[in-house]
Amino acid sequence: MLTSLSQLPQRKASGPKLAVLTAYDYPTARMLDDAGVDLLLVGDSLGMVVLGMPDTTGVTMDMMAHHTTAVCRGVTRAPVIADLPYASYLTPEMAVANAKRLMDCGAACVKLEGGVSMLPQIRAIIDTGIPFVGHIGMLPQSVKVEGGYKKKGKTAESIDHLLADAQAIDQAGAAAMVLESIVPAVATQITRLVKSSTIGIGAGPDTDGQVLVTPDLLGSYPWFRPPFAKARADIAAETLRAVHEYIADVQA
Ligand code: KIV
Repeated sequence: MLTSLSQLPQRKASGPKLAVLTAYDYPTARMLDDAGVDLLLVGDSLGMVVLGMPDTTGVTMDMMAHHTTAVCRGVTRAPVIADLPYASYLTPEMAVANAKRLMDCGAACVKLEGGVSMLPQIRAIIDTGIPFVGHIGMLPQSVKVEGGYKKKGKTAESIDHLLADAQAIDQAGAAAMVLESIVPAVATQITRLVKSSTIGIGAGPDTDGQVLVTPDLLGSYPWFRPPFAKARADIAAETLRAVHEYIADVQA
């Protein structure tokens, strides 16, 4: 079980792989921490799976600060990664100010989407002494520019971009990087190339760890689940059962 980001290099070298899950509230964070999850991510997936938005671009810093504070209240051990939301890191100065705000909420590190194009922001965050996690591959905050959610690493050009992004983030001093929706062979290549720990989602089995959106794992967001996410519970069905039983009891 991870208790500090400083243990990441040792885990990359000797395993076991990192088990990472998202959390957005106090009770979930407390349960996941007690269960031994290595890292908790207050992802901006918050916008979709908790707040009912169509994508993550409506998530604000106030929302992230609110939910990061709640998650950190529930955690005694696992380091918490907090997402910098859409348009909160347009300049290095904005990136540092907003990263500091999330650290003040109790996060252990911050994550933003992008590689080479975000290098000034990434360097500014790391130079301030704030531990940083990268996020490359399919970038949900770019859904409107990209016109959908597209797997990365299918062409030579896309592979070159991914390798350049991964190396840029690694050399800047990131503690870890999320590889989202990347052709598995390319995710494996990146994992071997970089010193940082890679945390895959829809990127095959050979990254240094895996992350899942917790409602996908628990079946608590039944309206959409990505194909790579295996639901290991059916909380939606159990919720409906309990509520139907309650209604029947009250009305009997
Ligand atoms: O917002 C999020 O939950 C994420 C994961 C999909 C990695 O960034």
